Amino acid sequence: MTRYAHVTGWGMAVPDRVLTNAELIQTIDTTEEWIVSRTGIRERRIAAKHETTASLATKAAERALDGTQIDAGDLDLIIVATATPEYLFPATACLVQDMLGATHAGAFDLSAACSGFIFGLNMAAQAIRSGSMERVLVIGSETLSRYVNWEDRGTCILFGDGAGAFVLEARETPGGVLSCVMRSDGSGGDLLSIPAGGSRFPTSLETVHKRQHTIQMNGREVFRFATRVMASATREAAKRASLEMDHIELVVPHQANLRIIEAAARGLHLPLDRFMVNVERYGNTSSASIPIAVCEAFEFGRIRPGDHLVLVGFGAGLTWGAMALEWVSPERPVRPGVRPRHRLLTLFAHLASLARRVWRRIEGLIWGASSESSD
Ligand code: ACO
Repeated sequence: MTRYAHVTGWGMAVPDRVLTNAELIQTIDTTEEWIVSRTGIRERRIAAKHETTASLATKAAERALDGTQIDAGDLDLIIVATATPEYLFPATACLVQDMLGATHAGAFDLSAACSGFIFGLNMAAQAIRSGSMERVLVIGSETLSRYVNWEDRGTCILFGDGAGAFVLEARETPGGVLSCVMRSDGSGGDLLSIPAGGSRFPTSLETVHKRQHTIQMNGREVFRFATRVMASATREAAKRASLEMDHIELVVPHQANLRIIEAAARGLHLPLDRFMVNVERYGNTSSASIPIAVCEAFEFGRIRPGDHLVLVGFGAGLTWGAMALEWVSPERPVRPGVRPRHRLLTLFAHLASLARRVWRRIEGLIWGASSESSD
């Protein structure tokens, strides 16, 4: 029996706080006209103090699960693609696993910057196709605003916060993930990075003073690289899925810069209206940008069952990739709230997590006492 990996649920979460260009131009030397003409961005979302990469990811995941027939406890694996994890370790995916109450799922983070969601989907699809897993949750989640140097006009205009999630399930019906292209070129790693805070440059007074914990980017070079790879990766993913470009109803590109998307459209000889574009409202949310764009495309009626999509992205690493999909999921209500049943399950997950923490303490005390008495 051939197995296919279908997208059965999708959801997004963005902070309420909107940061407009009008606000930014009060603090840095730029203009509304410059930002819009060079990037297409008009506003972006910024996480509130209580919002984190894991909390946004969990909200997006709950919404994605809400559209499926399964609960968090049925998941086999959770992959969180992120460039802004909560900690070096534990993995943000483990925090999400705990908050969701996904007690049977393995969980890990995937670091491929803006290409991370495509890479994660491909790993999930392979696990499902091979028969080793039935249901996988893939999330792209970021709080880039915490890593932005708000005095650097070349980067602070670009980035925003948010999360998007897909549930993938095994099906016998053909469709779902059809093909994937994954590429990297580490020789360009220095073009876009957060240099300090890892083992190469551990945090020190000097790294903080030099602002090496914020995003450093050679915008021009990244721009050149992006315009080169977006069209070729899209074409390659379509070819591997035996699809002509005319058969692709929608291309969902990473939302980094409108000019990069326009260049990809020109390179593919496709009209811009065949591309999902929402960069004007969210800026670049890295690994979250593609799932957020898919959720909105669906909400705006731009994806219908039977449609063929190509998701395509690029990012730090350097990394890039594209995935062809056949959308076979049944239509579902627009932007559903979290079902009351899921709210109850989430509450139960919090209580169960608390109980496990308390039990671990008690076990520690018992073990401590018994090892002392055996000494
Ligand atoms: N306002 C006004 N002027 C500015 C601003 C600003 N906000 N930012 C830069 N400039 C100036 C520069 O200082 C430069 O001035 P100079 O010529 O006197 O040196 C001039 O504008 C032109 O600078 P460029 O960098 O050539 O501008 P460009 O047209 O390339 O646009 C941008 C810059 C928007 C950053 C563009 O290069 C870009 O989008 N690059 C890709 C970035 C990207 O997608 N990064 C994310 C990758 S995904 C990930 O993994 C996170």
